[in-house]
Amino acid sequence: MFRASVLTLYPEMFPGPLGVSLAGRAMGGAWTLDTHLIRDFATGKHRAVDDTPAGGGPGMVMKPDVLARAIDHVAPEGDPRPRLYMSPRGRPLTQERVRALAAGPGVVILCGRFEGVDERIIEARALEEVSIGDYVLSGGELAAMVLVDAVVRLLPGVMGHDDSGTEESFEAGLLEYPHYTRPQVFEDRTIPDILVSGDHAKVAKWRRAEAERLTRERRPDLWAKYQPRKG
Ligand code: ADE
Repeated sequence: MFRASVLTLYPEMFPGPLGVSLAGRAMGGAWTLDTHLIRDFATGKHRAVDDTPAGGGPGMVMKPDVLARAIDHVAPEGDPRPRLYMSPRGRPLTQERVRALAAGPGVVILCGRFEGVDERIIEARALEEVSIGDYVLSGGELAAMVLVDAVVRLLPGVMGHDDSGTEESFEAGLLEYPHYTRPQVFEDRTIPDILVSGDHAKVAKWRRAEAERLTRERRPDLWAKYQPRKG
């Protein structure tokens, strides 16, 4: 069973979208989620989880001692799961990394707030920084949900027996081909003839060509990586 543990100042944000649909139905079966309030590991009268940045400047920084206690409680030494810290500074999340995580025992995810965490906790607990894109969220929680959602849908049994986990878009390094369904005519627009021809080989060829065209037009970065593998 895949176990996702989340350290956050806002556990009430969870499970949120992870509690419905595909991921929600599989929760307690293929995967489990536990959330931990970072403030529970703070000490002192004010239970402070953050402090002013050394060297000055705006904002607040999450304290390394508090985070260390939280991490050591949730994932003591010997816990085999990767420890992720959601951060716009991290390595961008890819379907390849998602696939690797889904093949493992789970994840421990630290969600930051404020300006971020004290750099020493990243080193001291070997946190892997992960970004979900080049934009800044107000905290790591939504990013953590994105990552967990992407991973959980790949777990055995979560999507059922269809191939939609492996046949789609990024799994082949291409964007997905266009989809159609009834009615045959919608506001004067028809379904491409090939898709209603019943010729499965022609359908497959059309879809591949469309996926390649869309990738070339919209994502030259993906296209450049895809081409060498063609053939
Ligand atoms: N926290 C804030 N912004 C983020 C991002 N883009 N990716 C991951 N974590 C974040």
